[in-house]
Amino acid sequence: MSEPDRYAVIGHPVGHSRSPFIHERFARQVGHNIDYTTIDATPAQFAPAVLRFFAEGGKGLNVTLPHKQAAVHLAADLTPRAEHAGAVNTLTPRAEGGLTGDNTDGLGLTRDLIYNFGVTVAGRRVLLLGAGGAARGALMPLLDLQPRELTIANRSPARALELAAEFGQDGEVHGCGFADLHGAPYDLVINATSASLANEVLPLPAGIVGAHTFCYDMAYKAEDTAFVRWAQQRGCTRAVMGLGMLVEQAAEAFFIWRGIRPETASVLAALKVELAAEE
Ligand code: ATR
Repeated sequence: MSEPDRYAVIGHPVGHSRSPFIHERFARQVGHNIDYTTIDATPAQFAPAVLRFFAEGGKGLNVTLPHKQAAVHLAADLTPRAEHAGAVNTLTPRAEGGLTGDNTDGLGLTRDLIYNFGVTVAGRRVLLLGAGGAARGALMPLLDLQPRELTIANRSPARALELAAEFGQDGEVHGCGFADLHGAPYDLVINATSASLANEVLPLPAGIVGAHTFCYDMAYKAEDTAFVRWAQQRGCTRAVMGLGMLVEQAAEAFFIWRGIRPETASVLAALKVELAAEE
């Protein structure tokens, strides 16, 4: 058998990344021979580690925290979605030399919402919490689905206003602080802040969610995040975490690299079993 094509995820820390688990299963599913590893690199080590990986014949890299913005500057060209996101999570060598930077995170989010949870975004009122890198990456893919309105709320309102102004020409987009939120419950609330990772509860007005609201936390943990618990306590019956987004963004990267879109449901199910076993 010929040598496997080499792929990796680069981050810091990266030891707990689920990407090797996911990509190995995708490859097995479609009968491809790949080797997918992790590369732990500090910010100072990032650029040389990427260049070395590709110089040694690597076929593709996923980029995770804290390097997604730095990866923009390593790419010779960016796809439009990476340019909008201002961040790169997938690097692929070009035939003419240099790297293409892409970002599959936003598509991972919308595919999880639409295909795994059956959520409708078109014509609905959407609230996006946060105005950092994760929120920025989600904006274009969400606006492409044509919500009736999209509100960005952030702890620092100025950042939400800036982001809304930047994307305002692409739809009905408003920015505000958490305390400014009022009116009828939203149809879809997406938490793109990093508060969940620190288990912190966002100071949100209770009225923004109702029984029909779909609440999605882009973070995931073995147990429910503070945001999911907050939503459930306010009567929300559908409050979920972003494990499916992780699998879907990986499937899109796999498609870029291998030209075939793997089936994701079985891999997501296997990942849930794996996580539950670790508890
Ligand atoms: P990421 O790339 O994960 O989005 P980031 O660019 O540092 O990381 O952005 C973090 C986001 O989470 C920001 O919207 C931040 O709010 P501020 O802009 O006000 O800093 C938000 N955030 C982080 N911790 C938070 C907390 N405890 N409460 C509310 N918002 C929080």
